[in-house]
Order: sequence, then structure tokens, then C-alpha cells
Amino acid sequence: MKKNNSQTVLLAGATGYLGSFITKALVQGQYKIKLIARSPERLESLESETVKIIKAEVTKPKSLKGICEGVTTVISTVGITRQKDGLTYMDVDYQANLNLLNEAKKAGVKKFIYVSAINGDKYRHLKIFEAKEKFVSELKASGIHYTIVRPNGFFSDMKDFLQMAKSGRVYLFGDGNQKFNPIAGEDLANFIYELLDTNVKEVSVGGPDILSLNDISKMALQTLNKPVKITRLPDGFRKFIIWSLRKFTNVKTYGPIEFFLTLMAKDNIAPKYGKHRLINFYQQNS
Ligand SMILES: NC(=O)c1ccc[n+]([C@@H]2O[C@H](COP(=O)([O-])OP(=O)(O)OC[C@H]3O[C@@H](n4cnc5c(N)ncnc54)[C@H](OP(=O)(O)O)[C@@H]3O)[C@@H](O)[C@H]2O)c1
Repeated sequence: MKKNNSQTVLLAGATGYLGSFITKALVQGQYKIKLIARSPERLESLESETVKIIKAEVTKPKSLKGICEGVTTVISTVGITRQKDGLTYMDVDYQANLNLLNEAKKAGVKKFIYVSAINGDKYRHLKIFEAKEKFVSELKASGIHYTIVRPNGFFSDMKDFLQMAKSGRVYLFGDGNQKFNPIAGEDLANFIYELLDTNVKEVSVGGPDILSLNDISKMALQTLNKPVKITRLPDGFRKFIIWSLRKFTNVKTYGPIEFFLTLMAKDNIAPKYGKHRLINFYQQNS
């Protein structure tokens, strides 16, 4: 599709895994880009005539003042994936994105693209989705054209299996036949790039290969030339872990674990997109 690259796109999240690939796609597409980050020095090398790097903290509304002037589209991949700074999902996935949305509204931004996760609307009881979907509701009610992207697990997260495989054994819950189609950052970035000039409101997406947890565990072990040793723990044990973490730890600890253990307990398959294969990602990262 011919792109209307006379737009100015503001990207929040460029220092992250997905955001770095979206940045590349936008640069290649010759868009005018504003990248906002709390540590702008990490993006310094990208600065050019068309790429502006701006220091702004999405959790601090004052620092966002005027940031969306002249912007046509905002893309946000901001969210907590690994806890780093003691904030909650409500502080970041909800409130920080809302701060950005409020600023976008003030400046008359035409479109807001937000990255949630697969089946987020069906798992609202999980802390991460409580916050993400609360933001989705705000976005839908905002009057701005929006696209909500619901991707399957990223390749970056599949490294956890590789990590486990290094010890010679992978531990799974249940029979390991739960299937999903993880997606590479490059592919998801291209998918989001293609959405810039569409009216799509909500879309789920995954990678080209549908794999079971057994397949992925085997792939991780074989990439490291290890014999295939998989221990399948009873599903009741998974439920017990979630229950006890919820009871005895705070959301900052149990949130990410609850998210992964819940989503991995069932099939989560999204429409296929892209060409990058997990096997190649494992080979490059082993
Ligand atoms: N990983 C998955 O498998 C997966 C699957 C589906 C959906 N998602 C969602 O997709 C989005 C992007 O994921 P990703 O893997 O690219 O995440 P990531 O690598 O952790 O990047 C997250 C981005 O959010 C920013 N951020 C986080 N906390 C912040 C805070 N307190 N203040 C300001 N900025 C903050 C980070 O900035 P800093 O670099 O400064 O920390 C970074 O730019 C997330 O919302 C995630 O929940 C992830």
C-alpha cells in the first residue's frame, strides 16, 4: 500500500523491544518522527532531520505538555513487561497512556495506535489487563480514531524457554499441548506500520507458526544441542502458584507471573502474519 508519509508520528516506547522495530520501520518509510523517552540518550544515534528525540516521562503529565503539537498519529507501546521501577500496571499501562492520550486530544491528533495483548479483553481479571483494558475503554471513548493491536507473545519473551533449556530441562504446566503463535518484533512492527493508513479499529495478530509449548521446549533444547527433557507439572500446581503469589506478594511481583501462567494454560492463536521463525531467533540468541 502507498503510504502517506507526510504524517508526523509520535512514538512512545521506542527504547523497548517492539518500539525499536517500529522506529526502524518508520525511518525506512521516511516518516517525520518524534520519539519520546525518559532516557533520550539511549536513542541519540537515531536523531536526524526527520527524527526528533524528546525527553518526556509519560508518567508525568507536565513533561508531556505540547508534545503532540503538529503530530498526526501517536503510537504507544508503553507498558510494564519486566518490573523495573516500582510502579504498578495502573500507573503505567493505564495512567501513563492516558496522560499521552489527553495530550493527543488537546493537540488534535488524528489517530492513536495502542498495543495491548492477545485476548486482553477476555482476561480482564488479570492485573495487567485490568489496566490495559481500562485504557482501551478510555481510548474508545476519546473521539480520536484508534487502532488497538492485540499481539500474541513476542519472540523476546520466548527467550525464557531458551534460558530454562540451558539448565538441560524445561518445566511446563499441564500436558504442554497448549498452542500459540508467537511473533517477532520485526514482523509486528511491519504489521503496525501497515495499519497507519487504515481504519482498522481492533486487531489480533500472531506469527507464522502455530506451536505448542512442547514444540517450543523441544526447539529450545535442540538449539542448544541438549537431549529433550521436559517435565510436565500438574495444572493444579500452576493454579496454586498463582493463588499463593496473589495472597502473599504484591501486584508488582505476581502481576507478570500471573499473566504468563494464565495465558500459557490455554490455546491462544491469532491470525498469522510475518515471516520470521522462532527457530532462527533461537539460533541467533543461543
Ligand atoms: N512481551 C510480550 O510478549 C508482549 C505480548 C503482547 C503484548 N505486549 C505489550 O506490548 C507492549 C510493548 O512490549 P515490549 O516487549 O516492547 O516492552 P518493553 O521492551 O519492556 O518496552 C516497554 C516500553 O515502555 C516504557 N516504559 C515502561 N515503564 C515506563 C515508565 N514507568 N515510564 C516511562 N516509560 C516506561 C519503556 O521505557 P524504558 O526503556 O525507559 O523502561 C519501554 O520503552 C507492552 O505494553 C506489552 O505489555 C507484550
